[in-house]
Amino acid sequence: MTASGCAGPADVRLADVARARRDGGLVVLEGFHALKHATRFGAEVLGAWTADLETLEALRARLAPDVSFAVERVSAEELAAVVSRGQVVAVARRPRLPHPDVLVGAAAATPLVLLEDPRHLGNLGAAVRVAAAAGAGGVLTTGPQDPWHPDALRGAAGLHFALPVYRVKALPAGGPRSLLALDPEGERFDPRAVPPGAILAFGTERDGLTDALLERADGRLALPMAPGVSSLNLATAVSATLFALRLAA
Ligand SMILES: C[S@@+](CC[C@H](N)C(=O)[O-])C[C@H]1O[C@@H](n2cnc3c(N)ncnc32)[C@H](O)[C@@H]1O
Repeated sequence: MTASGCAGPADVRLADVARARRDGGLVVLEGFHALKHATRFGAEVLGAWTADLETLEALRARLAPDVSFAVERVSAEELAAVVSRGQVVAVARRPRLPHPDVLVGAAAATPLVLLEDPRHLGNLGAAVRVAAAAGAGGVLTTGPQDPWHPDALRGAAGLHFALPVYRVKALPAGGPRSLLALDPEGERFDPRAVPPGAILAFGTERDGLTDALLERADGRLALPMAPGVSSLNLATAVSATLFALRLAA
């Protein structure tokens, strides 16, 4: 494979992947799609490794002829020692982002997604993926989960590099954006009534949004569901909301 789009495979070694998982300045990309999107959206990939260069190159040529990456061949045993699944693992630099207050405080037309204390990294990744696909301005999370965890990156297919993704202690106060709580107990959601640049807040998987956020929100909106259904899955609720907004624009 050619080397454009990568800093070069010699910058870090496969043995550094374990260290990269604990390094706040680096991210570990597991799987072809994570590496593909990260590269396409400008990630600085420091090293990538596979045990099956031919299959990976065939996949790249078929699914992503627009991207290229430098990948080093290693043995299947060496790869399995650092990653439990996926045919390729890579290490990239975490992008330098402006402070989240800048993003939240900016008047902009694109909505932001706020995930309050998401528990499931696959859900978190799926929410990032759909936020990127729907053209959201960024994703903020609260709680202990790192949105840049490899499992979240895998769930997002590497689309963290397409928009700003932050973990914040709490949502900054004030600013020009409306804060809207997505809540099954809210008023019927009408995408045409959502102000541009709103922060759309989604709650944790089991318990929903906190009382503190609900009290602070400028509105509480429900996606209408068929009788008897309590709620949507978190990532599905993010998806339905963002695409309803996009289709109504
Ligand atoms: C799995 S749900 C949480 C369910 C929780 N028992 C509750 O009542 O909120 C996770 C999040 O998805 C969003 N959500 C799910 N279904 C929704 C709906 N029908 N309308 C608006 N938001 C919804 C909410 O933000 C919710 O906090």
